[in-house]
Amino acid sequence: RDDDDEQADEDLAQKSHARESRRQTPSCHLTACPHSIPPRAPYIGGMYAFVPNAGASTAEIHAELRAAAVAITDGEPDGIANMANVAALLAEFLPDLNWAGFYRMVEGELVLGPFIGKPACIRIPLDRGVCGAAARSGTTQRVEDVHAFPGHIACDAASRSELVVPVIRGGAVIAVIDLDSPLPGRFSAEDAAGIEALAEAIAERI
Ligand code: SME
Repeated sequence: RDDDDEQADEDLAQKSHARESRRQTPSCHLTACPHSIPPRAPYIGGMYAFVPNAGASTAEIHAELRAAAVAITDGEPDGIANMANVAALLAEFLPDLNWAGFYRMVEGELVLGPFIGKPACIRIPLDRGVCGAAARSGTTQRVEDVHAFPGHIACDAASRSELVVPVIRGGAVIAVIDLDSPLPGRFSAEDAAGIEALAEAIAERI
């Protein structure tokens, strides 16, 4: 082996090293290169397998729903994330709903929050609709037939009955939980009591 061979070996090694470091540090032509972002906290993967027990009574379903909501919001300070997960749990646990979610009290009117269902009206003044009545009075509105409720706002034409429960924190209504069903008379007094208990359980977390 002479000097030329050694030089060739060195060149090869250098090329291979360059290839390797290109692979480890991808080049990026974006202005804000994502590869320059320092590593973040590790991704915590996993699925939440909250499902109601088959054959559970209405009271049991609500107890399980509330326990799941308390568990999933535990230690999470972001109210929007918590409302989003609670909306998902409402849709998961309660049968025969076509809309489930939150309106938040913002500067004296209700503003759409996280929900599951069709796109809905964004702002509701307190003198309008079932939601406005619940927020204004601070009391649960259980409406057997939405068509018979004066001022009902139809966000989804399929809705036939509705349950709206205020979320109260420090004596003030901070949001409402709104549930819609395509079935007339879907919501019982037990459902109202269950959602009221849920609202109380999450009032500090949204
Ligand atoms: N029906 C409600 C409006 C909100 S939607 O149902 C999502 C009301 O009358 O206030």
